[in-house]
Amino acid sequence: MAIDKDFFRQVMGRFATGVTVVTANNKGILTGLTVNAFCSVSLYPPLILVCVDLTSATLPHIRESGAFAVNILTNDQEGLSRCFATPSAERYERFCSADYHTAVTGSPILDGALAFIDARIVAEYPGGDHSIFLAQVEALGSSEQVSFAHDLDHQQQIGTYIRSYLESEKEPLAYYQGQYRHLTEEYRTPSLTTTVTSATSAANGTSAAAAHDESHT
Ligand SMILES: Cc1cc2nc3c(=O)[nH]c(=O)nc-3n(C[C@H](O)[C@H](O)[C@H](O)COP(=O)(O)O)c2cc1C
Repeated sequence: MAIDKDFFRQVMGRFATGVTVVTANNKGILTGLTVNAFCSVSLYPPLILVCVDLTSATLPHIRESGAFAVNILTNDQEGLSRCFATPSAERYERFCSADYHTAVTGSPILDGALAFIDARIVAEYPGGDHSIFLAQVEALGSSEQVSFAHDLDHQQQIGTYIRSYLESEKEPLAYYQGQYRHLTEEYRTPSLTTTVTSATSAANGTSAAAAHDESHT
């Protein structure tokens, strides 16, 4: 039986993600779109990827600029996410009224984001009705620290500056089953307990998930 696209979406929607805005600066034209098809690929060299719909009006700008920034949104930036996911004059002419700074590639790093990755495109692969952009990290950071691929004096100053515009207290914006979500509680369990529980349950023939649930009842 053929794979129904709505069902495909439904199943993929069970994978909870964060929400990002991918931005580019194409010779002074600022563009961005909301993206959750983003992931890290390699540590050495540091590589990330984003998948962009072939029909996206932003795609040619990303391609032509040769770089992009991934802005990881906080849970009070849902409005920005909605703006960068909808065609409007506010978006195309006023960049969703978003304040930003730049690091290395010139791609906009949105003020108030939780974290950013500024990267240069090293390859574009076909991915069905999407393009997969593989990019090498030039700079990345959160409110705690900003790091650069090439340590130059003036970049340290830029880093300190950008850091002050990033959010330190907020939680990430999440997306699950086609809806925006907020994380509600901090959940921590000692990893040693998990390992022991898993090993014990494997020996007992019970599932790790069940054992995990039992330990919290
Ligand atoms: C939470 C969320 C995640 C999205 N993820 C992606 C994505 O990974 N890739 C993509 O091409 N579009 C994604 N979209 C859709 C685009 O943001 C949307 O189609 C946008 O309007 C494209 O604009 P453009 O045609 O002006 O580039 C997402 C939308 C939302 C709300």
